[in-house]
Amino acid sequence: MIRQEDRGRRFDQAARLRRMVDGADAPGRSTNVIAVVSGKGGVGKTMIATNLAIALAAREHRVILFDMDMGLANADIVLGVEPACNWADVLSGRRTLDEVICPAPGGIAFVPGGSGTARAANLSEFERHYLMAAIARIEQSYDVMVLDCGAGISRNVVTVAASADTVLVVTTPEPTAVTDAYATMKVFAQERESAPADRGSTASLGLVVNQASSRREAKETFERLAGVAARFLHLPVSDYGYLLRDDYAAIAVRQRVPVLMAYPRCSVSSCLMALAGRLSREMGEPEARPSLFYRVINLFV
Ligand SMILES: Nc1ncnc2c1ncn2[C@@H]1O[C@H](COP(=O)(O)OP(=O)(O)OP(=O)(O)O)[C@@H](O)[C@H]1O
Ligand SMILES: [Mg+2]
Repeated sequence: MIRQEDRGRRFDQAARLRRMVDGADAPGRSTNVIAVVSGKGGVGKTMIATNLAIALAAREHRVILFDMDMGLANADIVLGVEPACNWADVLSGRRTLDEVICPAPGGIAFVPGGSGTARAANLSEFERHYLMAAIARIEQSYDVMVLDCGAGISRNVVTVAASADTVLVVTTPEPTAVTDAYATMKVFAQERESAPADRGSTASLGLVVNQASSRREAKETFERLAGVAARFLHLPVSDYGYLLRDDYAAIAVRQRVPVLMAYPRCSVSSCLMALAGRLSREMGEPEARPSLFYRVINLFV
């Protein structure tokens, strides 16, 4: 049972968050928010999120990439940047979000996640919403926000995904990764069902099959997962295509250069460009979507 003082504290926190978002100018246009998630770890979220951000910037979108895998962040390694500060500085109040944004390869802006702090991986509900409110305040400066999330279904991930326009679930064809991707989808379906009708996530869910050995293997993986999601969760899942297994992906990480920039003609780079092309076409008219500003306000209460 929620005690009176807890209810009072929650009310105060919601009021603070509302003031924070209300303090920003009401957005004239809306940003497209893409959250990259998975069930199993190590399936390629960071590789996809970083390179997707770069591919979208190459298509003339103003892009910012957020490393939301706080505590175990490593997008800075893949990008080859050495940031001086990160999300932990925003949470502690030492810096504003604007102060931790750093330039990254390919002309993208980047917010590093920080590594080695258990606290950042276990944020309170207030802190999670505080971060989303900070992100909503800067939405007008960008066309696309790409959020590289941690593996699994922690509250951090669920809160981030709830505010997105598109949630890209990444899996490999391995049965263990597919099972965990299904578990992640199940949590999203349950979250949607339990939210009040006017406050549920409106994100569309898409699947990306990474490290596929062929188009056919990727297609079979998609059909298996989308089939069970439709049958047991009544959840529509879109096919966002696949990325082939390609040694250049790992070689580029070792070189600390995004694969799209180091090896633009390799097979995984072609697949990344195709994924970015699909997302770029879908963005369509910005006015068609409710802005992040309004979605974040709705999440607070
Ligand atoms: N298509 C691919 N072909 C070959 N190797 C790949 C491919 N995609 C990713 N990898 C390799 O898999 C490893 C894990 O990738 P990555 O760090 O992007 O996964 P992740 O899902 O972000 O992991 P975590 O759950 O730990 O955040 C990296 O070494 C990367 O180079
Ligand atoms: Mg990662």
